[in-house]
Formats: sequence, structure tokens, C-alpha cells
Amino acid sequence: MRTYHRNREAIYPYDPWAVRETHFDIESNYRDETIFAQANGYVGIRGNLEEGYNGPKGTSFSATYINGFYESYPILYPEGGYGFAHTGQTMINVTDSKGMKVFLEGEEFSLMSGTVHHYERKLDLKKGVVTRQVIWESPKGKKAEITFLRLVSFKRPHLILYSTFIKPLNFSGEIRLISRIDGNVTNGNETDDVRVSSHVSGKVLRTLDLHVGESGGWIKQQTKRSRLTLLCAVLHEFIPENSGELSMRKEEEALVGEISFFGREGEPLQVNKYVAYLDSRSYPEERLPSTAENLLMQARADGRQVLMREQEEYLASFWAEADIEIDGDEALQQGVRFNAFHLLQSVGRNGFTSIGAKGLTGEGYEGHYFWDTEIYILPFFLYTQPELAKSLLLFRYHLLDAARKRARELKHKGALFPWRTIDGPECSAFFPAGTAQYHINADVIYALKRYVEGTGDEEFLFSYGSEMLVETARFWVDRGTFSPAKGGKFCIHTVTGPDEYTALVDNNAFTNYMARMNLEYAVRTLARMKEVVPDRYRELVDKLNLADGEMEWWRKASEEMYLPYSEELGIIPQDDTFLQKERLMVDELPADEIPLLLHRHYLDIYRYQVCKQPDALLAMFLLRELFTVEEIRRNYDYYEPITTHDSSLSPAIFSILANEIGYGQKAYEYFMQTARMDLDDYNQNVKDGIHTASMAGTWLAIVQGFGGVKFLPDGIHVTPHLPARWKALRFTLRYRGRKLMIALAKEECRFQLIEGDPIEITYREEKFTLTGEEVFPV
Ligand code: BGC
Repeated sequence: MRTYHRNREAIYPYDPWAVRETHFDIESNYRDETIFAQANGYVGIRGNLEEGYNGPKGTSFSATYINGFYESYPILYPEGGYGFAHTGQTMINVTDSKGMKVFLEGEEFSLMSGTVHHYERKLDLKKGVVTRQVIWESPKGKKAEITFLRLVSFKRPHLILYSTFIKPLNFSGEIRLISRIDGNVTNGNETDDVRVSSHVSGKVLRTLDLHVGESGGWIKQQTKRSRLTLLCAVLHEFIPENSGELSMRKEEEALVGEISFFGREGEPLQVNKYVAYLDSRSYPEERLPSTAENLLMQARADGRQVLMREQEEYLASFWAEADIEIDGDEALQQGVRFNAFHLLQSVGRNGFTSIGAKGLTGEGYEGHYFWDTEIYILPFFLYTQPELAKSLLLFRYHLLDAARKRARELKHKGALFPWRTIDGPECSAFFPAGTAQYHINADVIYALKRYVEGTGDEEFLFSYGSEMLVETARFWVDRGTFSPAKGGKFCIHTVTGPDEYTALVDNNAFTNYMARMNLEYAVRTLARMKEVVPDRYRELVDKLNLADGEMEWWRKASEEMYLPYSEELGIIPQDDTFLQKERLMVDELPADEIPLLLHRHYLDIYRYQVCKQPDALLAMFLLRELFTVEEIRRNYDYYEPITTHDSSLSPAIFSILANEIGYGQKAYEYFMQTARMDLDDYNQNVKDGIHTASMAGTWLAIVQGFGGVKFLPDGIHVTPHLPARWKALRFTLRYRGRKLMIALAKEECRFQLIEGDPIEITYREEKFTLTGEEVFPV
């Protein structure tokens, strides 16, 4: 395996509850803008400087994103084909509300001029704010303490607060500020890296209307093609009241607030800038201005202190559910919390949005939602804040019509979810690693099944899940065939599994195993509905025109599913031809060929046994109840040397499986790659955005790997593997209406039932009923 040791100094000092930088560095500015990005699942701002930045090109990208707010564009193929995805969607950079320039007696504050006597930027994971404190001396010797505070409110999803504090330190005199709401924005990335590039260029937002009032104003803009409207409104406040004067004016595509104060030496001044973002996917267009105005008036009436208190309270309840404590490794402790915090910042909560591969921090992957959500990220929310998992599933339910349409377009029955999308259509232009990843259907159902098993929420299953089950089951029986050449077994041809370095193959093991689970679950759920809610069952049958005998086909296809197995090697071959190819040993590849996708043509890659990420192994992890430890070991030993981990989704799964088969050292090394991937910028691309799936992989690797918790259909099984260098590990889980705490130490494993009824748990193969507290030797 390629190893990534923590052999360099941490970029940001270790701190269990914060990320800090103590000096400003042009070289790393682009990256720092991602690390200090803030979001609340609806709106996200990169950590750009309020006063603006005029450093060298390519060292900054200023952006603001709204989850689910996109521009569409036609995908043009020089050599197209029937059924190719034809409409792309890109998350766009929207109205910039961060601007606040500061002038001390006419001299403009900038980190690139004068003298910076002190600098600290801090992301506080408990308070949910970023503060940047600078003591700056102007070229002419005016010294002031300037502090910027930003809060992207978790409780008020449309609200951002920017506070600016200025304390003149060696003078009294005029202090001027220019507050800006800038509608002149464009998307940033034009690069050859397919993982980053965005397909819209130039200006996407047309300004429809601008309005200014005494203390603020709003700007209304619309995308050219998708016709989505966005309103960004602002309201200013001075503390002390009347300490400053504000004059608002319009520019062509911007709102500008000229603020002037008389500053007295040693006395702090404060401007609060309350900003609201609202879009036409959340509110009727004509109500945007009035809704924004009410929201801002309320925020100002409540004031900064209240907003800060709310934020802290919100986070206190988040950490009470989601915190993981690791005694004995402060670097990991910080990494784990930073990742959890960013997941919370990224997750859409309204049932119409999900989590982008880069959250709301960058344009990588165009802001698209992938299977990353269901397979990697959803478990984190499911076992800490099940309501958020439910809203992610609802998002898929809301895409069902688009998925039906896509299946029809491809001449299939049922529904086919898009490999990547924002609000429904398939947006992947490269079908071998896009549409061909049909497993997305089963991934969604897998998440649904885990949700229902983990919460007992049959109501959701019957109301929403059942429809998704019927349509995906219909799809699979139509997509596969009972093949005489394989003894009449049900085969699924010409698909791509999770490993994108092998494409368009027959009987990809992952796909077949997961499709079988999908079909079985559909049959089981409908049978259960027929029994316990017969009226709703009939309604479903009528609504979806379920024909007699359809279910019988699902049952037959699942029972007869072809599941590849190599007797000779005792492993699961990735697909029908995988084992015939030459093995490409990753350790023998020159380091500068990694990632392979940037250095070799796919046709070259496809002809080898080489994997970008786990495939058969991932199926074993997900459907853990079907495999023995010995089977996992054989497959792990076979696939690990040919896996490049060119996808950030890879190391976490290897870490978990390594733990299961007793490869503790490897488990730890893989884990390190996920836990601090973004904080240490392992892949040197954090500037383009965080890696949300890998961040969630950290949670999986701790809870399911080191914690050894398996969420199996029959309940929770625990077989812990505490790494030698940790003193203790503690986390809590929400499970079937209970809240449990699991605390691992060198000698003992402690279970505590914090909320809910007694529950049966299996500890190292032995069942026990947890009623209060139980302690076992490790
Ligand atoms: C991975 C996919 C993943 C996508 C977005 C790709 O590199 O191979 O599995 O869905 O990134 O994270």
C-alpha cells in the first residue's frame, strides 16, 4: 500500500475544538479559503477576506453557493449518441455579500500593505463562527485592531451575519467602511482536471432588480437557462447605535453602503451586516423581497448576541449526538471534529437538496450529488441525527419522476436514478463511469433499508420507500436477463461497478449483490404492507399499476441472481472478465502516475486488473452479514495490491476491513488518510473544496472499524479494535429510538443506555440486553 504518514508538520496547530492560523500566507490562501469556509446546508461562503484580495492570480477564489441553486447547460458531444445525458447542471457562484473594505483616515486596510502586528483566524467548532483578528499599522502609521466575525446561522438557514469591529489604537480620526453586495460574479474553475472543471463560463446571473433603502437593500438575480431566481438582501446596524453614518447606493450590479465613523483612540466601533439569501426553489418569487426583509428585521431585532447564542446552542445539541472523543491523539481528535462539523455544514435539510461531493465549499464535481451521500454520508446522520438522514432519502423520493423519465429514455421499465445530478436529470457526460453505474439504484435502496432498520420508521417506508422499491425492482428485472450461458442465472450485463477503473463489464459482483438486496427488499416490503396496511398496499398497487406476477419476477430474479465466485482463488471476481486481465501492482507504479486517471487513457486503464476504489470489497462491507472474516481476508489480500485509492472514497473502507481481519497497522494508516485528508491537504486539492465522502468515511472508520460496530439486519454487533496508541474512544449512537454510548478503553468496553427502552446487543458473539450500563473486558 502507498503509505501516508503524518510525517510533516500540521498545517494548522492541533486544537481539539478549533482550527486556527496565526499568519496570513498568499501561497496557501486558496486552500485556507476552503478550510475556513462556512455553511449551513443552504448557503455556503468560502473563507475569502472581507476587505478583498489582490494577490497573484490563482491564489484565491471568492465564492458563495446555495445548495441546489444551479445553472443548466446543454451537454454538447462532437460524437454524441442516443440517450447520452443532454442537460448538465452546475452549482453556481452567487451574489457575494462578504465585502467590507476598511479605511483608516483614508488609508485602505490590506494584509498586503502596511504592517501586520498580529493575525489570527479561528474556526470555532463549538461556537460555529470564524473570527479573524488583525492588528494592523497603515503605511502612514495608523494602528488599529480590526476583527471580522462571520456566522452562517444553522437555525436560520437563510441568514448570515458579518460583524466588523474596529478599535483605533494610536489615533482618533475618520474611519470609513465600504460594505458591498456584489452581483457581478462568475464560476471559477477552468481546468483540464475533470474532477474540478465547471461547464458554465462567463456571467450566469442576470440582475433583474436592485433596491436600496436607508439601512440596506436587495438585489434580485436570475440564472439565464434554469431560470432560478435569487434574492440577496442586506441590513446594517451600528453599535453603539448612531455611531456611524450610512449611505446606500446602487451600482450596475451591486449594492454599496458607504459607512463613516469618527473613531476615538481605544474605543471599539462595530458594524453588523445581516444578510439574507432566498431563492425561488424555496419561496414564491414574488415573496422573496418581503420574506427577506422580515427575516432581516427579526435578525436585527434579536441582535448579534442572540444569534451567537443560538448558534452555540445548536452546536451543543449537535455535538451531544455526534461527537467522538479520542483520548491519546490530538491530531485525530481535531480531524474527526473538523470533518463532522463540515458534514453538518454541507448537508441539505429540506428534502429537496442533498450533499455535494465538495459540500458548499467549492465547484469541484459541479456541486453534484452522487452515491457518496447514500453509501458514505448517510450513516453518519442516520446514527447521530436520523431526521437529517430522512431528509436525504426524501430528496431521492422527490427525484423519482425524473428517474422514471430517464429509465423510459433508456427503454427500461421502472426508474433509474442519475449517477450525478442537482435536481434530477442525469448530468454525467461520460457514460462509462456515469449512467453505466446502475448500482446507484441499489445504493439508494440500501440507504433506505439501513434507515428503516436503524430507526424502525415503517411509516416512511410505506409512504415513500415503497414507491422507490417498486420502481427500482422493476428496473432491475428489466435490465438483467436469465442467461442460458450461465445456467439460467439472472445476469446483469454491461454495467460499471464502483471501481471506475473497470468499465462496461458483465456481472459486476457489487452490482449483482446489491441488486439482489434491492429486489429482496422490495418483495419483503410489499408482502409486509399487504399484511399490516392492506389499504395502503392496494393504493400503491393502483397508483403504480402493479401487475399480477410482477413481484414473482422480482423474487425469481433475486433468488436466481448470478453471484460471481472463483473457486480457484476463493474470492469474488469483480466481474466476468476481471481475472483474465494482467494485474497492475500499485507499488510498482511510478509515483508520478498517480492518480492514474490524470496520466493514462481509460482504454489503457481498463485492460488491467487495477482498481480506483473498493468494489467487491465494498459489497462485502455493506452486506457484511453474508461473509465470513476469512472470506474478507482472502478478498482483501487479493484486491489491496491492485487498488490505487485514486478516489478519496477508498481508504476508509480499507481501514474498516483491515480492522476486521486483524491488520491493525494498515487499518490505522488508511484511517489517517481519511481523518486528516483535508486538514493536512493530503491530495493537494483542498483548495477546490472539501471531500465530504471521505469526511464521513472517518466516522465509518471509527465507529464501524475501531469501534467495531456492525449495524446488521438483526441489530447491533460490537467487536472493538482499539488502536494501541489510543487510550480511549467514546461515541454515542441513535438506534431504534434509543441513545447509546459506547466507551472503549484498553481493558474494557462500556455500554450505556442514555435514552429509550432496553435493547439487545451482541458483544463479541454474545447477546446481552442493555438496560442501564454494562461493562465487558476487551
Ligand atoms: C469516485 C466516485 C465518486 C465521485 C464523487 C469519483 O472519483 O470514483 O465513486 O462518486 O468521485 O465523489
